[in-house]
Amino acid sequence: MNILFATSEAVPLIKTGGLADVSGSLPPAIQALGHDIRVVLPGYPTAIKNAGTLTSIASFTLERDLLEGQILEGTLPGTKVPVYLIDIPHYFNRDGGPYNHEKGGDWTDNPQRFAAFAHTVVQLAMARIDVGWKPDLIHCNDWQTGLIPPLLTVEDNPPASIFTIHNLAYQGLYDKDVFHSLGLPEHFWSPESLEFYHNFSFLKGGLAHAHWITTVSPTYAREIRTPAFSYGLDGLLNHRSRQLSGILNGIDETVWNPSKDVHLKGNYSSDSLQKKAVNKLALQKHFGLKEDKSIPLMASIGRLAEQKGVDLILKVLPKLFESGAQFILLGSGDAWLEHNLQMLASQYPEQFKLTLGYNEPLAHQIEAGADIFLMPSRFEPCGLNQIYSLKYGTIPVVGRTGGLVDTVVDATTRNLYLDTATGFIMDDASPEALLHATERALQTYQQPKVWQKIIKTAMKQPFSWEISAKEYIDIYQQVT
Ligand code: ADP
Ligand code: GLC
Repeated sequence: MNILFATSEAVPLIKTGGLADVSGSLPPAIQALGHDIRVVLPGYPTAIKNAGTLTSIASFTLERDLLEGQILEGTLPGTKVPVYLIDIPHYFNRDGGPYNHEKGGDWTDNPQRFAAFAHTVVQLAMARIDVGWKPDLIHCNDWQTGLIPPLLTVEDNPPASIFTIHNLAYQGLYDKDVFHSLGLPEHFWSPESLEFYHNFSFLKGGLAHAHWITTVSPTYAREIRTPAFSYGLDGLLNHRSRQLSGILNGIDETVWNPSKDVHLKGNYSSDSLQKKAVNKLALQKHFGLKEDKSIPLMASIGRLAEQKGVDLILKVLPKLFESGAQFILLGSGDAWLEHNLQMLASQYPEQFKLTLGYNEPLAHQIEAGADIFLMPSRFEPCGLNQIYSLKYGTIPVVGRTGGLVDTVVDATTRNLYLDTATGFIMDDASPEALLHATERALQTYQQPKVWQKIIKTAMKQPFSWEISAKEYIDIYQQVT
């Protein structure tokens, strides 16, 4: 099958979160199963720079605004997966992030930028922009690609489309004037299509028109069919429930593997756990924490957003610090969370070290060096950091939601007895529940034999893409 994988970020070209990890690792897994899959993404300057050798293989003029663009072809570095970068300088050649400018706010022309991306992908798929290859199916991801499925419906003999929800909280929601300014077909302005309670929703385009919808864990696939998680989209998602599946994300085990990770002070496996301590001591040293193997070291990495429950962490840290535990947090995001974290870090200089910003090597070093990983998300479509933590034997304390419950097995008495326990699951998204789950983890940490057993079970869990890639291929085959 020829599959075009449309995404707004992909490792190692450009990354803001888990979508990039998935876009960089699922396509190679699908290719390994014998399919011709190619990735298409906007030609941001960072992506162009990171892509290495690129060839300009086609040029085009956007019909609507007469802007010039070209298709740059290369391969996703480190893989054999072909990649097309859509270089429309007016929209994509600028400093800053893929969605935000340097001050942090959204680019005001995001609807124009991702509409131009969608139009170009469709032109390429219909061979009006000729790259010498045509897909049988387009695999779209998140709202930035949401216009692709509806645009395909007005084509003769279009490829099939599937749409993967990585996070329903981000919808690409704009007002009606924006819809009109984009010159989309008038009949798209309807509740069956892009209209969402008198607004214009990119995301709804994917949900209403793709032949199949997937999301990134079975539990999240069920949760988004309920009002508590759906942002008003449960009606549509229930209507489409027969074409809605949850497929758990895998991870790139060449990049996230403690026995090979190039960023670590000491490589280790479940058979050489004493070497994990080398990373712990190095981490304590790096941050100027007391270097002591026996002090429990907790950590958290991620976007500082309400989703991730960072405010819950803030509330329970003072209590957790009473036991002498240390805590490291790496992240960036909402200003109020950054500010409150800074305040707390200054109150506990001996125990709390904070790094605001984005730092890939440090993320690996923290995963390897910490003992306990806090991820008290209020919702979590899949979550990758808890999976990386399991792989690195850094025991996760997680919210009872989405992919977290599909990947972590709670250390109940029964699961400990059965040797299936891999972490600690909170009862609900409250500070009390986080405190209780973390205290359980800290108490278990004091029982080295039990703790080692949990680590070994955690590190053994299979999270390669192979199984999930096959599930995607089954869906590709059903819709083509
Ligand atoms: P989400 O996509 O919702 O942000 P995931 O857990 O799926 O959450 O993926 C987050 C990814 O981004 C992981 O690969 C994680 O290591 C990485 N990450 C998040 N914040 C940072 C940061 N500040 N520095 C380095 N890596 C980060
Ligand atoms: C989103 C979700 C996260 C998921 C990632 C990759 O960013 O918030 O839970 O792991 O996408 O699918």
